[in-house]
Amino acid sequence: MIGHEEIQDRVRTLAKLIHNDYEGIRPVMICTLKGACPFYQHLLDALQDLKHGYSVEFLRASSYAGISTTGNVQVVGAELAKDDIENRHVILVEDIVDTGATVANLIPKLQELNPKSVQICTLLEKRLQEGKRPAAKAKYSGFSIPNKFIIGYGLDYNELYRDLKDIWVITQKGIDFDAKTLF
Ligand code: IMP
Ligand code: MG
Repeated sequence: MIGHEEIQDRVRTLAKLIHNDYEGIRPVMICTLKGACPFYQHLLDALQDLKHGYSVEFLRASSYAGISTTGNVQVVGAELAKDDIENRHVILVEDIVDTGATVANLIPKLQELNPKSVQICTLLEKRLQEGKRPAAKAKYSGFSIPNKFIIGYGLDYNELYRDLKDIWVITQKGIDFDAKTLF
């Protein structure tokens, strides 16, 4: 669906937008594990190239089982400390906003820590069926994509395919594949 170079071009553009909007500010960049990991790394690389400073934090959210969201978002591990967030400008870095449930659940949890601001930066945004609106909107969004299940560049299907360099639409063969043959 999207090749690595096209992703990198877009990541550099997002970094420039953040650089302009956060002049004189060192935002707290929060990586939502695990899916956002490659995007996060390359986004921080691009901010470094612009000599734009930041703090790093991580949290882990999970709502998916297979190819469908459970709607039940859990934050597991990597608790954020109030000291790290209070009075800071926060940018939550996501791999993909689908229904928006994950982001809509995480924002109130972040607000409890009294940040100065919270914005979402997502690599991908899924176009939902007509009439359906996402539960949350990202300020920075890399690509708007059709409502298909995708893998690669951090995105997984049951923990497989995160290691692909590009972003792909999953096939039936990819769904049926038994990863245990590679263990
Ligand atoms: P939401 O809560 O429905 O917005 O879903 C967001 C989360 O679901 C993302 O952070 C991903 O981890 C996961 N997700 C949504 N769509 C896909 C997909 O097409 N492939 C892989 N993971 C996905
Ligand atoms: Mg995710």
